[in-house]
Amino acid sequence: MNEGSARVINGREIAANLYQEMKKDVERLKERHILPGLAIIRVGNDYASGIYVNNKIKRSLEIGIHAKQYHIEETVSQAALIDKIETLNNDSKVHGIIIQLPLPRHIDPFSVIHAIHPAKDVDGFHPINVGKLTLGEPCLQPCTPQGCIVMLETVIKDFAGLHAVVIGRSNIVGRPMSTMLLAKNCTVTICHSYTKNLADITRTADIIIAAAGKPKFITKDMVKKGAVVLDVGINRINLGDDNYMMCGDVDFKEVSRVASYISPVPGGVGQLTVAMLIKNVIKAASMTRSFLDKVNR
Ligand code: GUN
Repeated sequence: MNEGSARVINGREIAANLYQEMKKDVERLKERHILPGLAIIRVGNDYASGIYVNNKIKRSLEIGIHAKQYHIEETVSQAALIDKIETLNNDSKVHGIIIQLPLPRHIDPFSVIHAIHPAKDVDGFHPINVGKLTLGEPCLQPCTPQGCIVMLETVIKDFAGLHAVVIGRSNIVGRPMSTMLLAKNCTVTICHSYTKNLADITRTADIIIAAAGKPKFITKDMVKKGAVVLDVGINRINLGDDNYMMCGDVDFKEVSRVASYISPVPGGVGQLTVAMLIKNVIKAASMTRSFLDKVNR
């Protein structure tokens, strides 16, 4: 790996190339009379969720996927929400379902995620898919860590034996990320808010995945020369007077001095999250058809 001033891993460029391929995949599915369909459920008015969901819908439509948002009031009951999911599970035009998180406090996210049919679980959050991922079986995989692997593959040829340090243990990023890096034969360390001597650990990392949710948490002194650093953080900093700035978990300017490759925020991992969601919808749509073909044979 290079040493010195880091090269930027351009999420927008990588995603743009993937979208070209995905457009062709969608065309091929349409030739077989399959129009991939995505249903996104958003509950309440969380500001960031609104932006993420609109972006997912916009991108899906650009690629030729049918995508629809179901915006449900904050006060919805858990039972009513699960009923909605059941309806979408039974709708043959819908191949992928996601529930944008976080959910209001009165709703148990596990119960809601369990209600999604595993074959339509394009977030890869259902326990069936989580279990399959852990066992190394084919499944729908969580989008953000999948996107991180795609980004890493653009700059790393052989992962075997590299020390990957994942900071954060969420079900959305940290845990599946460490499983995927393990599958690439990395030596994986998972760090979190209770980890002692974090900097001592990160300084031994060849790959750092920063998913702590803390702005500019990873500083230059925590990074080994030549490490590859991916920033999963999306933090909104209040600059005062209603001015906000988006920033990642990594002190980009400083860490760029020691890393070999670094992903920016914005324009980094977030771009790949959406691309991987669309990839999962295409995969789910293809799987449904092959399942039906087998049944009807
Ligand atoms: N909230 C933050 N990230 C995600 C994600 O990848 N999927 C869903 N459904 N909600 C999220």
